[in-house]
Amino acid sequence: MAATEPGATRTDQPWWRHAVTYQVYVRSFADSNGDGVGDLPGITARLPHLRDLGVDALWITPFYTSPQHDHGYDVADYTDVDPLFGTLEDADELIARAHELGLRVIVDLVPNHTSSEHEWFRAALAAGPGSPERARYLFRDGRGPDGSEPPNNWHSVFGGPAWTRVPDGQWYLHLFDSSQPDLDWRHPEVGEMFEQVLRFWLDRGVDGFRIDVAHGLLKEATLRDQLGGEAEPEHPHAMVERTLRDEPMWDQPEVHDVYRRWRRVLEEYDGDRMLVAEAWTQTPESMARFVRPDEMHQAFNFAWLLAPWSARSFADVIEGTFAAVESVGASPTWVLSNHDVVRHPTRYGAGPTGLARARAATLTMLALPGSAYLYQGEELGLEQVDVAPEHRQDPAWLRSGPESGDPGRDGSRVPLPWKGSQPPYGFGPGTAEASWIPQPASWHAHTVAAQTDDPASTLEFYREALRARRTWAATAGERVSDLAVEGDVLRFRRGPLLVVLNCGPEVVPLPAGEVLVSSGELVPLDGSPADSEGTGVSRGLPTDCAVWVRVPPSR
Ligand code: GLC
Repeated sequence: MAATEPGATRTDQPWWRHAVTYQVYVRSFADSNGDGVGDLPGITARLPHLRDLGVDALWITPFYTSPQHDHGYDVADYTDVDPLFGTLEDADELIARAHELGLRVIVDLVPNHTSSEHEWFRAALAAGPGSPERARYLFRDGRGPDGSEPPNNWHSVFGGPAWTRVPDGQWYLHLFDSSQPDLDWRHPEVGEMFEQVLRFWLDRGVDGFRIDVAHGLLKEATLRDQLGGEAEPEHPHAMVERTLRDEPMWDQPEVHDVYRRWRRVLEEYDGDRMLVAEAWTQTPESMARFVRPDEMHQAFNFAWLLAPWSARSFADVIEGTFAAVESVGASPTWVLSNHDVVRHPTRYGAGPTGLARARAATLTMLALPGSAYLYQGEELGLEQVDVAPEHRQDPAWLRSGPESGDPGRDGSRVPLPWKGSQPPYGFGPGTAEASWIPQPASWHAHTVAAQTDDPASTLEFYREALRARRTWAATAGERVSDLAVEGDVLRFRRGPLLVVLNCGPEVVPLPAGEVLVSSGELVPLDGSPADSEGTGVSRGLPTDCAVWVRVPPSR
């Protein structure tokens, strides 16, 4: 597709195509009623922060009726709001206010499993072995003479066996916590129920759905043992490990029929409603299968998030991503952090180094064609918090325990700091003690208020980068060109932009051209005075820094 002039309005593209979407982890964004847990009215009140940041959409993690054993990813009623988070009217209000501000709203759909408190699972337990009620889930008899061994050798992603035995002796499958029984997607009522759920939220005006565990819905029908499955995976949140393994529980071909059906449902509605897959697949090619023309619109590109800090590995992911998505005519997405992984400044080394690298990786990502996903708090430069064991609540931690050596995911889910010098930093009207996870005492310097108008702050950097993206990158065509790695330096062209990322220890001379935005301060090159004219000739790009330079079009 031909590049569009910068500043031109694209009317030929659906809104999500180049959108920057901000992930709101509902428990930790903003608390309106002082109970220490974020809620829908809290989000509505803080929507101007997202408008001022310059994102296009928000994705809100599950706020439906739930006992909260996996913080909402255990849904007891898909068409109601948990009182912890508000009411259906609050959801309507949020959607309406977001739309007024020009923000799209994506909600989370959790189809792989229900909560054990869902009416279907309660009925299944009550009805007993062989009943139609049990057929909506994956109940099986156990192995061994008395059936006391699990039906197969699968592990829960959160640690321990993927099966739990009920008092009458049968076992049910749960790829996650025992409070999250897996549905049997071969049962027709399951598909019918989720179609109604989609329509319920589409009718209320949502613009899209993030599909939780999209690669998990169908299992190999025999529920056979996993080859090599005797050993427990090393990582408690094992989906994040991407080594090629035998996986009869993930990424089965039949799962794609579900998304074809959902695509048809969305196409009955106006306004480019969309689906984005959370699919921890094993290869870029298997990721691309979820975004074939008649399936989902996007899939999270976890390869980008998993790439180590190196110019070569970033280049490899960029190349691999384009090859994969172009093979099915789809467009790429990019993501560096979410509520399941260690925040990217911490992954890249923590402290000033980690933050500099995180900003550089973010700026590089925002130059790429396609859509980018940001996770709440990354615009504040927040790091992973070392949550004290007594405050940890993640079922991945509770199931795996201290011997796993992994603290779980609570450290990326700490309530946001908005203003003030001490916890709860404006998170809500409650006390610091009320916050569902305590905030660190050092966060006073990270609040939105403290960073606003400070040109050196990460918040102002994000605002500037998103502004520059709207002007330049979002209208600079669909491709990158001249992608190259020289030593520790990654370069690519995107329309009028030359993007340079310095992952190495040496200062790199900047090419001539107007510097549009940089992730850190540029430095004078040895022997030349700092250049204040904006030509860039005498300036260098320091280590752990990225820059967008406006250059003449390449021939
Ligand atoms: C997804 C969610 C994660 C949740 C899991 C089970 O990976 O992102 O937070 O624990 O699914 O629903």
